[in-house]
This record gives sequence, C-alpha cells and structure tokens, in this order.
Amino acid sequence: ASEALTDRFGRRIEYLRLSVTDRCDLRCVYCMAERPDFLPKSELLTLEELTTVAETFIRRGIRKIRITGGEPLVRRDVVRLIENLGRHVGSGLDELTLTTNATQLERHANALAMSHLCRINVSLDTLQGDRFARLTRGGDIACTLRGIEAARRAGIGIKINTVALRNENEDEIPAMIEWAHEQGFDLTLIEVMPVGDVGSDRADQFLPLTAIRDRLEQRWTLTDLPDSTGGPARYVRIGETGGRVGFITPLTANFCAGCNRIRMTCTGTLHTCLGHDDDLDLRGALRTGGPGAVDRLIDTAMAIKPEAHDFSIARGGAPAVTRNMARTGG
Ligand code: GTP
Ligand code: 5AD
Ligand code: SF4
Repeated sequence: ASEALTDRFGRRIEYLRLSVTDRCDLRCVYCMAERPDFLPKSELLTLEELTTVAETFIRRGIRKIRITGGEPLVRRDVVRLIENLGRHVGSGLDELTLTTNATQLERHANALAMSHLCRINVSLDTLQGDRFARLTRGGDIACTLRGIEAARRAGIGIKINTVALRNENEDEIPAMIEWAHEQGFDLTLIEVMPVGDVGSDRADQFLPLTAIRDRLEQRWTLTDLPDSTGGPARYVRIGETGGRVGFITPLTANFCAGCNRIRMTCTGTLHTCLGHDDDLDLRGALRTGGPGAVDRLIDTAMAIKPEAHDFSIARGGAPAVTRNMARTGG
C-alpha cells in the first residue's frame, strides 16, 4: 500500500464513505423533503465505475470503506459491489461496512453474511410503530425489525444509529438502549444536523445530547471509554446493561480535529466535508480525464478539505449546506 493520504491540517484520511444511491424507500422527516427530487438513474456511476474508483482510493491508502446512501440496499447491484470490494478486506482494506435502514435486510442477510462485509449500522429512531410510520412518512416497523433479526441470525455484527429528536423520540431513548443492549447491539445517538431543506425547522428537531447524557446519568452508571474508533462517536459503557452507547455531537462538541474521512456520492462527486458545499467531479475525471486524473483529484481533495464544518443551531436551524444527507452519503 502507498503512503496514507494526509490533508493540510495533518489529518490522515483513511476512511471513504461511498454513497451508491440517493434514493430511499423511507423518507425520514429530518433527512428528506416530503417529495424529494431524486437524481435520474442515468447520472449514477456504474457498478464497474464504483469499483474502479474505490480501488483507486484503496491504492491511495484508504483502509476503511462504508457503503451508504440513500438506502444502499435499494440499488440492485449493491451486493455485487460489496462482493467486489470484499476481496480487498484483509489486504488493502481493514474494514468494509454498510449503513442501512434494514427494510431490505431480510432478503439480503445471507448473501451479506457470506461476503466480506464486516458489520452493519442500522438506522432506527423509534421502536413504536405509529411513531416510526410518522417519522419515516409511511414506513412499517415490523419490516425493519424482521430485517434486523435476519441480520442478527446470519451472524452479522450490528450497531444501531438513533437520531435524537426533540419531542419525537426523546422519551424513548432509555427504552431503545435497553432493547439494543439486550440483543448485544451498541447504540449510537446522533445530533440532527442542518443539512438540506426538509420542509420543517431544524431548530425544532434539535436535541442536544448533553441533556440526554445528563438524563441517562440519573438512571444508570456511565463510564467513559477510551476513544478507539477514530470516528466521531464517543462511547460510554452502561454498568447496568453492560452495553455501549455512542454520542455523535457535531453541534455540542465538535469532533472535526480528528476527522479521518472523505465522501463520494453516487454520481461520483467528492465531498471533503459533510458541512461544506464544495465538490469535486470524480466522474468527469474518471470518464474523460485521462491517466492520472482521478489521482490528481484526490490530491486536490486533500489540499482543500476544510478544517471543520460550520453547523450551528444559533443560525436558527437554517441548512448549512443545500444537499441532504441522503445525497452526500450519511
Ligand atoms: P463506525 O464508527 O464505523 O461504526 O461508523 P460511523 O459512526 O462513522 O458511521 P455511521 O454510518 O454510523 O455514522 C453515523 C452518523 O454519524 C452519520 O450518518 C452522520 O450523521 C454522522 N457522521 C459520520 N461521520 C461524520 C462526519 O465526518 N461529520 C459529521 N458532522 N457527522 C458525521
Ligand atoms: N442529521 C443527522 N443524521 C442524519 N441522518 C440523516 N439525516 C440526518 C441529519 N440531518 C442519519 C440517518 C442515518 C444516517 C445515515 O444518517 O438517520 O442514521
Ligand atoms: Fe432513508 Fe436513511 Fe434518509 Fe431515513 S435517514 S430517509 S432511512 S436515507
């Protein structure tokens, strides 16, 4: 492998988040507008192109790839992509992972368990059926829970991601933690970020995790764990359940100084930060740039990656960037 990619602040960039589609079969109220403008499928990188780009990144020192979306499992050839990239696990790649809403997991669990996928993160913000239907604008929680169960049975490692939402799921967070820990899953809480217009006020949705942590501390014994993942989550162990809870706090405790990542969208646009509008056209470089063009663009990305996002609730919840999470890659 080559030298690690390093940005101008000296951060080693070893983690690529690869969004394979902007589409999703759910439309979570904090993620998408009621009627999202999905990209025409003709804009998407092909399976072969995604594989080529990912392999270029691996050659340049990326050690970890997460497949995201949108909902990655709504893309028909995604399991083949996972199989293609899985060949690098243990040599070029330390880890290949997937973030999913679990609705299609029942169908894919066995194939995924046979691939070299290392573990999955499942997005789940409530365990209550009526709430789930409202939050996802029509989703069926039974389907999600069957997907999670199928993955668990197939032996796939699972982490639950829960976005903390004021007046929506805040009363349910301890129950979700208990449920996750009973099944041996870690659960990570996420502060909602002002990305993309969703047709409602972000400031109304935002719930600082500092408040949630205080409430959890009144109920349980929390012990801080050393930072071992290199990712944004800071973990605690809960004495009473024995499980771990992560906190991703872009707004109340900025973690950008330790950023190790870069993102590519399903159309081959490179975003150096979740919270900035700048983009680089990797698809153009790949299709018409000639030899070395993709490598040069990766070097440019390292040169322009900003120091930090500038999300702020003080702005009144106005979106800091125009593209939503499903476009960028969660
Ligand atoms: P592991 O640590 O590998 O389990 O994954 P992760 O926590 O990095 O990835 P996951 O897909 O679980 O990320 C959960 C959420 O954290 C994302 O959907 C984002 O909302 C948020 N997140 C991840 N990376 C960043 C980042 O670089 N900046 C910001 N602001 N938020 C991030
Ligand atoms: N802020 C925080 N998390 C978000 N996600 C989607 N939109 C947002 C947002 N605006 C989360 C999803 C999923 C992950 C891919 O990103 O809930 O867990
Ligand atoms: Fe779909 Fe995930 Fe966005 Fe929900 S948060 S609409 S599951 S991409």
